[in-house]
Amino acid sequence: MAACTRTWVFALFLGVLLAEISVCVSAKVHIVYMGSATGEGPDGVLRRHHQMLAAVHGGSVEKAQASHVYSYRHGFRGFAAKLTDDQASQIAKMPEVVSVFPNSKRRLHTTHSWDFMGLVGDETMEIPGFPTENQVNVIVGFIDTGIWLESPSFSDAGMPPVPARWKGKCQSGDEFNSSSCNRKVIGARYYRSGYEAEEDSTYTESFISPRDSSGHGSHTASIAAGRYVRNMNYKGLATGGARGGAPIARIAAYKTCWDSGCYDVDLLAAFDDAIKDGVHILSVSLGPDAPQGEYFNDAISIGSFHAVSHGILVVASVGNEGYKGSAINLAPWMITVAASSTDRDFVSDIIMEDGTKFTGESLSLSGMNVSARITSASEAYAGYFTPYQSSYCLESSLNSTKVKGKVLVCRQDDGSTESKLGKAEVVKEAGGVGMILIDDADKDVAIPFKIPSAIVGRVTGDKILSYINHTRNPTSKILRAKTVLGSQPAPRIAAFSSKGPNSLTPEILKPDISAPGLNILAAWSPAAVGKMQFNILSGTSAACPHITGIATLVKAVHPSWSPSAIKSAIMTTATILDKRHKPITVDPEGRRANPFEYGSGFVNPRRVLDPGLVYDLHPKDYKAFLCSIQYDEKSIHLITGDRSVCNETLPTASNLNYPSITVANLKGNFSVKRTVTNVGKPGSIYRAGVSAPRGINVTVVPNRLIFNSYGQKMDFTVHFQIAAPTKGYSFGFLSWKNGKIRVTSPLVVLVRPSEKGLL
Ligand SMILES: *[C@@H]1O[C@H](CO)[C@@H](O)[C@H](O)[C@H]1NC(C)=O
Ligand SMILES: *[C@@H]1O[C@H](CO)[C@@H](O)[C@H](O)[C@H]1NC(C)=O
Ligand SMILES: *[C@@H]1O[C@H](CO)[C@@H](O)[C@H](O)[C@H]1NC(C)=O
Ligand SMILES: *[C@@H]1O[C@H](CO)[C@@H](O)[C@H](O)[C@H]1NC(C)=O
Ligand SMILES: *[C@@H]1O[C@H](CO)[C@@H](O)[C@H](O)[C@H]1NC(C)=O
Ligand SMILES: *[C@@H]1O[C@H](CO)[C@@H](O)[C@H](O)[C@H]1NC(C)=O
Ligand SMILES: *[C@@H]1O[C@H](CO)[C@@H](O)[C@H](O)[C@H]1NC(C)=O
Repeated sequence: MAACTRTWVFALFLGVLLAEISVCVSAKVHIVYMGSATGEGPDGVLRRHHQMLAAVHGGSVEKAQASHVYSYRHGFRGFAAKLTDDQASQIAKMPEVVSVFPNSKRRLHTTHSWDFMGLVGDETMEIPGFPTENQVNVIVGFIDTGIWLESPSFSDAGMPPVPARWKGKCQSGDEFNSSSCNRKVIGARYYRSGYEAEEDSTYTESFISPRDSSGHGSHTASIAAGRYVRNMNYKGLATGGARGGAPIARIAAYKTCWDSGCYDVDLLAAFDDAIKDGVHILSVSLGPDAPQGEYFNDAISIGSFHAVSHGILVVASVGNEGYKGSAINLAPWMITVAASSTDRDFVSDIIMEDGTKFTGESLSLSGMNVSARITSASEAYAGYFTPYQSSYCLESSLNSTKVKGKVLVCRQDDGSTESKLGKAEVVKEAGGVGMILIDDADKDVAIPFKIPSAIVGRVTGDKILSYINHTRNPTSKILRAKTVLGSQPAPRIAAFSSKGPNSLTPEILKPDISAPGLNILAAWSPAAVGKMQFNILSGTSAACPHITGIATLVKAVHPSWSPSAIKSAIMTTATILDKRHKPITVDPEGRRANPFEYGSGFVNPRRVLDPGLVYDLHPKDYKAFLCSIQYDEKSIHLITGDRSVCNETLPTASNLNYPSITVANLKGNFSVKRTVTNVGKPGSIYRAGVSAPRGINVTVVPNRLIFNSYGQKMDFTVHFQIAAPTKGYSFGFLSWKNGKIRVTSPLVVLVRPSEKGLL
């Protein structure tokens, strides 16, 4: 398949000419996306895909068949095939094709949390006034690493028969039979064609079946929909009963992620089947690295567009890259989740010789019985390493003569991907007996260190280093990790949680919502690292299924609501205050957080079932949105599967009827339109309340809405006007109030620095 030319490549390494290599024009797996499904039979679809491939293979049917990898046909149209860049661009020009993009690899976004959010009860979550037993009829799909069926979180004890709507299957494979599924996990499939095309599949630690060998898929599924488990704990920490948000909802596992990641070809195949199988909600705790590709070159955006067009809500994680503008899963048709802390923490005490006590984050199950000398790792440098380099405790940077029997203070830079477990290992191998790791950004992420260890922030780290400097024979003792309940403030937004603004469409705020994602205990795979039944993980991966669980309850109580109505209910009822009724803060600085960090705020499950009003959206609105961001009509025809033109385009993407409002470039004044639908009592009156962004005048017209009936829609306009010199982003909110009901939307306004002169 590869056309190779032999060429000389000159590489200088220590002055030596190294190699002659071959440069190849190689065929890579690409996805050819062709828009909405047409209802054509499987034979016709395959024939058409082979014809298109033959056309770029000089008419050869054999070559066409050999290059074909996968065909999509249920939820949308397209296929995957091995193509050279040249062939890919030829296919991209064909009239039925929306986009052609390479088979990229995506990453997983690696649970007390329900009590913290105010949901109580074991089997059915009790939200006063709203029976949620109907969750047995809600089917939740997880696109992830598969599932460990035998976990008590996935027991089907007492569950009624599988809903008639279900058309999925239980695919057999390694250690997994077609009869393995039960009334809880009603379906399980796996997808590997995209993975096998890219990776050496002769070596694998995974089961080639829906069985989870990673733990991630079981973790996410049990957070959203795990059964009540009486004694869930992590080796004695975090003991107590635990369950998912919707413990009697049904689970369908779509395994797309393998040892090294998840490929687009397989992700799309999972969306394609899930749409046909009859799931109601899809949970996707993974995504591309930032910055995300354009919507129709990204498998998750495409798959979720068609899922939503079929009435399926897609919940996704915002990513773990932490910096401003790193948010991913940006499409307005999904609900994108940021990660926060809860008030449960895992800490180790660090006791100095003079009795001074510090506290660090830890999941270390071993503690020190006696105090030991403590020293900065920079003092223990070995060989050619400088003290600065050694302070990071990297492989072979430590001199064991200097480390033996001591506690070392090591460093981690903000955002660094160096393995923290690995550092403890380096200290241990050099003869150290404990480690204190200074990691300001992720000081609240608990790590299961193998030697007594704890993570501290910069402030505590400096105090410890100063103690070492000012003490003749400094010693310290690190105790075993313990669980702390009621830690404050909580929730806080996690430092690693990716932040807005939206790098593709600045008029759409992302993330949408935040939920617990720090140190979450949930089911695990005994075949994975640690061989445990339960494990504690941090990441927006763990935050996403919290929203999935809540969305499942909303679907159970309001089965007719559209995906966007459910999303609106979750967003407009969120809170921006923490448990002390102070504004939610963001780690590590502890400053006041803003909508780029928490979206609409922290989810409030006690209010989601009665949101009063919703901002609803339908496929035609997404079409108008695509028109407004300059998609050409041909692509839009194919994507939406109808023959209409851009006759209802929005004047601005800000006018998409979204539950948050963003003005991406305010000059002088600007107006944004919205429509709300009454899902509360008939005869209710709402009044607008505004907290205006700094320097901006905000007027809502009309500022009173009177609804006579359920389902009635009313329009309003929000006028923004620059009132005082201002630049950059500023934040506020709009709240429609009726008695105790608050329907709140964040307001985000960007005034470009150059616009200041316009005043
Ligand atoms: C699959 O079925 C076979 C034969 O009935 C049985 O021996 C085996 O234990 C089953 N495996 C699983 C994982 O259920
Ligand atoms: C501390 O003592 C306990 C009980 O004697 C022992 O099991 C443990 O291994 C000791 N810890 C260390 C780090 O030596
Ligand atoms: C380690 O430290 C000892 C004692 O200071 C010194 O003699 C030795 O040369 C050092 N070894 C390395 C590899 O730096
Ligand atoms: C500790 O002393 C070293 C040199 O002796 C100095 O570089 C470092 O800044 C001091 N650290 C603190 C926290 O005082
Ligand atoms: C736009 O086109 C659609 C489909 O062709 C049609 O149903 C709709 O009425 C049109 N809207 C307007 C405002 O012309
Ligand atoms: C908004 O700006 C336009 C043009 O700059 C002006 O004509 C209009 O009166 C302004 N609207 C408001 C409400 O101030
Ligand atoms: C902003 O609103 C206030 C109060 O409604 C009003 O007095 C003021 O003139 C407005 N400022 C501008 C620049 O429109």
